[in-house]
Amino acid sequence: MDFALADGGRIPAIGIGTWPMDDNEAERVVADAIALGYRLVDTACEYGNEAGVGRGIAVSGLPREELFLTTKFSKGSHSVHGVAHAWQDSVRKLGVDYIDLMLIHWPVPQLGRFIEAWEGLLTIQGQGKVRHIGVSNFLPEHIDPIIAATGIAPVLNQLQINPRYPQAEARAYNTTLGIHTQAWSPLGQGTGLLDLAIIGELADKYGVTRGQLVLAWDLCQGMSTIPKSSNPGRLVENLAATSIVIEQVDIDALSAIDVPEPDIKHPNSFGV
Ligand SMILES: NC(=O)c1ccc[n+]([C@@H]2O[C@H](COP(=O)([O-])OP(=O)(O)OC[C@H]3O[C@@H](n4cnc5c(N)ncnc54)[C@H](OP(=O)(O)O)[C@@H]3O)[C@@H](O)[C@H]2O)c1
Repeated sequence: MDFALADGGRIPAIGIGTWPMDDNEAERVVADAIALGYRLVDTACEYGNEAGVGRGIAVSGLPREELFLTTKFSKGSHSVHGVAHAWQDSVRKLGVDYIDLMLIHWPVPQLGRFIEAWEGLLTIQGQGKVRHIGVSNFLPEHIDPIIAATGIAPVLNQLQINPRYPQAEARAYNTTLGIHTQAWSPLGQGTGLLDLAIIGELADKYGVTRGQLVLAWDLCQGMSTIPKSSNPGRLVENLAATSIVIEQVDIDALSAIDVPEPDIKHPNSFGV
């Protein structure tokens, strides 16, 4: 299963998230995940595990063109020059010669340089170093200025999203502009989302696990998703969520869960 991107590309529906793995764990998990069928791997300069991710990719033996590899750069690289250096560092650590999707990790509006960061991504894309470029944790107030400055919208926006924190407004805005939404912390980071009674009831209704139900809530709404698991059984379980179809009434019921997300990272106050 995959989704279309506005630049003509496609992105696998489910990927493996690699935060907070260290190099050794990332190597083992990425190799396992690829062997199990994952074709999207999500990392970031900030995670400090790009070398391990790269080793896992190499160990897997998967032809490079069959993998969709995402990385992100941090606020210290928010300049045209900085993005070029960040790309160089990432490809060296990952042991690859191009990145499939490179994202501005956080807008960090206090710094006021995310437009330069976007210009940097456009530059390296023009040089053939990245296939697709996008953003992460960008709200409409951050997306508008980069489009106004460059005339070009990101193809993807990776946001903290799960049924406790559906971010309906930001997602609708992405959709209006043809920006694909991808969910991070889709399982709520193990902070109780999966323990909610409604999750159990609906998982039973569909004969799926609680984790699968929550991931299917992303997929059935057209979002790709990048759950992290270091557990081989759950890696298999999560990937199988692509075959689950949830009725709209249940998607709506999940979106209406009125339980606060305990650790919201707001892009105007948090960012790396
Ligand atoms: N763009 C950003 O700013 C940003 C921020 C944070 C994260 N991310 C990315 O998003 C990825 C995912 O987010 P996340 O790691 O914060 O949280 P998450 O994927 O929502 O949750 C991961 C937690 O859920 C557990 N888990 C995995 N599958 C499960 C299942 N089927 N049933 C029950 N528990 C399950 C994992 O434990 P086990 O490992 O033991 O299975 C782990 O404790 C990260 O790895 C990272 O790549 C991006």
